[in-house]
Amino acid sequence: MVRKRVLSGVQPTGAIHLGNWLGAIRNWVELQENHETYVCVVDLHAITVPHDPKQLAENTLRTAALYIACGMDPAKSTIFIQSQISAHSELCWLLNCLTPMNWMERMIQFKEKSIKQGDNVSIGLFDYPVLMAADILLYNADLVPVGEDQKQHLELARDIAQQRINSKFSSNGEPIIKVPKPLILKEGAKIMSLTEGNKKMSKSDPNDNSRITLLDSPELITKKIKRAKTDTTIGLEFNNPKRPEADNLLSLYSILSGLGREVVGKDCAEMGWGTFKPLLAEATISALKPIQTQYNELINDRGELDRILLEGRANAEEVAQKTLSRLQLALGLLRKN
Ligand code: AMP
Ligand code: TRP
Repeated sequence: MVRKRVLSGVQPTGAIHLGNWLGAIRNWVELQENHETYVCVVDLHAITVPHDPKQLAENTLRTAALYIACGMDPAKSTIFIQSQISAHSELCWLLNCLTPMNWMERMIQFKEKSIKQGDNVSIGLFDYPVLMAADILLYNADLVPVGEDQKQHLELARDIAQQRINSKFSSNGEPIIKVPKPLILKEGAKIMSLTEGNKKMSKSDPNDNSRITLLDSPELITKKIKRAKTDTTIGLEFNNPKRPEADNLLSLYSILSGLGREVVGKDCAEMGWGTFKPLLAEATISALKPIQTQYNELINDRGELDRILLEGRANAEEVAQKTLSRLQLALGLLRKN
């Protein structure tokens, strides 16, 4: 049987946090067991907002090392850096010419991010979703495991593939480009900020206490959880819209402890915050410990990391070039031979 193909990525814009891990990376690790899995560090997306070159290079390597530390296995998956495959930028241009402006004007994330950028909004930021569509379509991905915030971008990628490429340019009724599907698992799909229960945990939140990153020390984790926003009610519960903090921290605890929602719901039903928070801190520290150990080994062995990324690059290049050529041909661009 042909295995389905998966593609996903995270931006190297800052430290990877629990939301990235639980909403995205953790799912890749399971998927790689019976899917053909491609994961990239999307550094071209990271330059859609002002950035520091040195920081970007460092974050790109760190992010790749974290993928592996979280359990992505280079023997099972292709792990690569987006900007090292020029086909991403080339396909992005072709898709730009096929995508209507008014589809782009609806993108919620662009609206949110552009408000934050003030006068400094680049064309790249507006075009971000098209580059993301290029990432996905290049690898003929069947499934794209992401958090809930990316759903609209996935729909755009599907619409471009279906309505703007396959139905317009196929000469024999066969699709030119595979139409991908989002894979958004319910548990962990949206982890909220520790300081504001109605806002998602995000790399770009100026308040460091709003997120726990995968490399935070045990002391820092304990401190951040101690400071996390709570309410005055005793007893913790899921799904009470008036208590977003309780729902978020309880969800985190159920995932990180591995106990599951049912057990945790019962165990914590009458628990006060003062008893609960140390339990959550302990579960978080234990869940992150193996990741931190492996990360430290890898980041101190650059040769091994470079080798993995070189191999990933070669695998990715091969698939990407084929898709790019197929579309170039379908659009009437003359090929070299
Ligand atoms: P980004 O940090 O924007 O590069 O996101 C990388 C991946 O993490 C994407 O699949 C997002 O959907 C996912 N993600 C980001 N923030 C969260 C969050 N707070 N909860 C769940 N998933 C998230
Ligand atoms: N836009 C995604 C995010 O911020 C990152 C991303 C870029 C991505 N290209 C992708 C995710 C392709 C999945 C597939 O979360």
